[in-house]
Amino acid sequence: MRNVHKRFGSQVVLDNISITIEPGKTTAVVGPSGVGKSVLLKLIMGIMTPDSGDIWIGDDKITAAHSESQKNAIRQQLGVLFQSAALFDSLTIYDNIAFPLLERLRLSSIRAHKKVLAIAESLSLTEYLQNYPEQVSIGIRKRVGMARALITEPKVLLVDEPNTGLDPLDGQEVYDLINACKNQWGFTGLVISHELPEVFQVSERVAMILQGKIIAEGTPSEMIASADPAVQQFLNGRTDGPIKIQ
Ligand SMILES: Nc1ncnc2c1ncn2[C@@H]1O[C@H](COP(=O)(O)OP(=O)(O)OP(=O)(O)O)[C@@H](O)[C@H]1O
Ligand SMILES: [Mg+2]
Repeated sequence: MRNVHKRFGSQVVLDNISITIEPGKTTAVVGPSGVGKSVLLKLIMGIMTPDSGDIWIGDDKITAAHSESQKNAIRQQLGVLFQSAALFDSLTIYDNIAFPLLERLRLSSIRAHKKVLAIAESLSLTEYLQNYPEQVSIGIRKRVGMARALITEPKVLLVDEPNTGLDPLDGQEVYDLINACKNQWGFTGLVISHELPEVFQVSERVAMILQGKIIAEGTPSEMIASADPAVQQFLNGRTDGPIKIQ
């Protein structure tokens, strides 16, 4: 991202942000609630447009794509795991996983079938394929969401708040899932989170956003050792400090 600016009315959410996400690594984008993390993700996906600035995914500039078909071509490189897994409740787990292959890549159902069975096997979902999302636990729904995100073999995996609404055990399962998938499929990861330090276990890099700027960037251990009072306040969950609680 280079010089990305985004405002809503008079509220500046992202104030000329520039950041390079290292290929093959996972970067956690962290910051307090309302700071613009989800907006950042939507800009990368081309669901929102910045007021100014450019965003590249590999060599493709999504901010220069104006038609949906141009954007969709670039989005092929992205897999997205949404906050609550965002499955289609009226489709079986099989059909949820097959969806991007049939609807986005327009594969034949025979070719899609092989891929669905293979990824279901890898993620221990085979026994649930004929169930509907509401019939399985949230942990399994997250695995289905991950299967659907990865089945197109994207170069980049985007994850928005992997743990919202989960208890600590289910939450840990999602981190383990991200790490296991990273080892197996090897993607560039971007994980949006305000769960510190838990998110560090899936991150090689961390970027912290505050008041429209990236105020700190580095490895998890560099963040922990940071002298920046805002970083320390956020890491330690203190109410006193430069971050104002709204
Ligand atoms: N479509 C929109 N129209 C107007 N304001 C918006 C819109 N989307 C987001 N905002 C505002 O932008 C700011 C950043 O929102 P965003 O959802 O990115 O925060 P966040 O960092 O993801 O927070 P959380 O940790 O709670 O998910 C908020 O003040 C929000 O109200
Ligand atoms: Mg958010």
